[in-house]
Amino acid sequence: MNETLETIYKRKSCRDYLPDPLDEETLKAILEAGIQAPSAMNRQQCEAFAVTNKELIDELVHELNVVFAERGEKKPENYHCAYHAPVLVIVSGPEYESRRIEDGSCLLENIFLAATSLNVGSCWINQLRDTQNVEEVRNVLTKIGLPVNHQVVGCAALGYVRNEGPRKEKKLNRYHIIK
Ligand SMILES: Cc1cc2nc3c(=O)[nH]c(=O)nc-3n(C[C@H](O)[C@H](O)[C@H](O)COP(=O)(O)O)c2cc1C
Repeated sequence: MNETLETIYKRKSCRDYLPDPLDEETLKAILEAGIQAPSAMNRQQCEAFAVTNKELIDELVHELNVVFAERGEKKPENYHCAYHAPVLVIVSGPEYESRRIEDGSCLLENIFLAATSLNVGSCWINQLRDTQNVEEVRNVLTKIGLPVNHQVVGCAALGYVRNEGPRKEKKLNRYHIIK
């Protein structure tokens, strides 16, 4: 197996991070790999906002918890949807970009694979998808620097792994070679 395939097979979602910050060089390498992703018509409209400020991540998570409580969504006590990861990368694109979900997802997968190759844990964090337009949540996103016309596609928690979760078994009957 070559190195790329090994990285693809090695990647798994991490939900238990050490609090240690990522060094900037590593974070930059991951983000730069992210933006190498393909994009529809090469428009390159999606952007990645890597939040390394713990107070800002916690403020965002707090506002999300308020929304979940208001919506009656049951969550575990002290729920932290980003698992206290030291970095939360928010990937977003302009609402007029009709392919932002596809583009942003490609960008995120590049981030996950680059992180894995550098021994950094990662996980897709989805909780902003249906909450990002609640005023209090949006205010934090604006504080982070998201343009007002951007919609979040998804987020990547990043950090050094404290505990590796189990490897999820993949359903191997999902590809088909048609001759
Ligand atoms: C679109 C999408 C949304 C996801 N949202 C979350 C999430 O909000 N929280 C989480 O812990 N994992 C999330 N995941 C990670 C999946 O749970 C994980 O990929 C799946 O269980 C398979 O495990 P693996 O990534 O270790 O192979 C998401 C993954 C995708 C692709």
